[in-house]
Amino acid sequence: MGIEDVTGRIARDLEHLKQYTATPGNGCTRLPFTKEARDAVNYLKELMTEAGLEVTEDAAGNVIGTLKGEDPDAPCVMMGSHYDSVVNGGDYDGIAGVICAIEVARLLKEEGITPKRNFVAVGFCDEEGMRFGTGYFGSGAMLGHRDVEYTKNFADTDGITIYEAMKGYGLDPEKIGEAAWKEGSIGHFLEAHIEQGPVLDAEGTELGLVEGIVGIQRYMVTVHGRADHAGTTPMDMRMDAVDAATKVISKIADWAREKADGTVSTVGYINTVPGGMNIVAEKVEFTVDIRSMNNDNINDITNRIRKALDKEVAEFGGSYEMDNKLTITPVHLSEEMLDIMEEDCKAKGYSYRRMPSGAGHDSLEIGQSIPTVMIFTPSKDGRSHCPVEFTKYSEFAKAATIMKDLAKRYLEK
Ligand code: GLV
Ligand code: MN
Ligand code: MN
Repeated sequence: MGIEDVTGRIARDLEHLKQYTATPGNGCTRLPFTKEARDAVNYLKELMTEAGLEVTEDAAGNVIGTLKGEDPDAPCVMMGSHYDSVVNGGDYDGIAGVICAIEVARLLKEEGITPKRNFVAVGFCDEEGMRFGTGYFGSGAMLGHRDVEYTKNFADTDGITIYEAMKGYGLDPEKIGEAAWKEGSIGHFLEAHIEQGPVLDAEGTELGLVEGIVGIQRYMVTVHGRADHAGTTPMDMRMDAVDAATKVISKIADWAREKADGTVSTVGYINTVPGGMNIVAEKVEFTVDIRSMNNDNINDITNRIRKALDKEVAEFGGSYEMDNKLTITPVHLSEEMLDIMEEDCKAKGYSYRRMPSGAGHDSLEIGQSIPTVMIFTPSKDGRSHCPVEFTKYSEFAKAATIMKDLAKRYLEK
């Protein structure tokens, strides 16, 4: 199977998957537990079956295809990424890694190797956390980090909890624990993903070998004030939630900038209630997403936000909540697997560089406890989480080939 054939198969699958979006013509919107997610999962199941894999969907909505090895109880080699997307996102974030994993299974089969252990291709459910403000739902469940309580604790902006959304989708949230794999059953985890930043494209480098992934904390902050008439309430007699919230929001980016080490913080969502031009706002909700390779920086910014809210809210006698949606520490990926990939890139004449990831991935969750590695393909102009996201199919083929060789090393042991 030549690299052109690999490119062709990956192109065919990703082109087909483009149709499973809630926003045709305006990027990929494939939120978890929706019709688009179901349609994409059904197609992934078809591809896995065609590839000769044993297919299951687990209690968390992950789709799993297994190429059976001689000893199915030996720790497996798992490869995958997520099939959900952000709102108006691109056609490659996550799903390209799922297709690369299926392609690796196809290539392994075609090579006719007899794997000593299972090779498992996975499409994870709800990596993005877009709908419920969370993240890494499917990969977390696989590691036993999600329970029924969790599914009841988080809701989307329509008030639908994960629990309710799962039921509507045909999954039983009471059984979420069944998605957990036994400790030691996953030997190595591999993920191919688009870079989602500008480095590889700007340099003209073909592949990124990912050394580490930033830690992340996410919060929904709600500041409570009091609704009043905008014209008649004197400035010193109002409980203006917008005034207090924006004083804090305006500092959050600077606190990250101050670290000057790649730490980033983002307020990506702000909502005022009731949201009238002539009404003092009684409530402001805003999200905070803080990321760094240095976990102390994340904690420091979180503490500063809390302190600033204490002060600003106390000044007008209001109150606030700061609800944690996600806390995950930075992870260093497997040196052993990075070295193997590096040698293979050299042998194949592919240009590469080692690099960190500022985006979160299922590998961030899985890499906390299992030897994990990632490979990045270039994102045109660094654009991602938007409809113009683009990577050449031939780049995915190179990534799949490198990952196939890597998987083979462990499958033959
Ligand atoms: C996922 O793409 C994230 O980094 O938020
Ligand atoms: Mn992704
Ligand atoms: Mn993403």
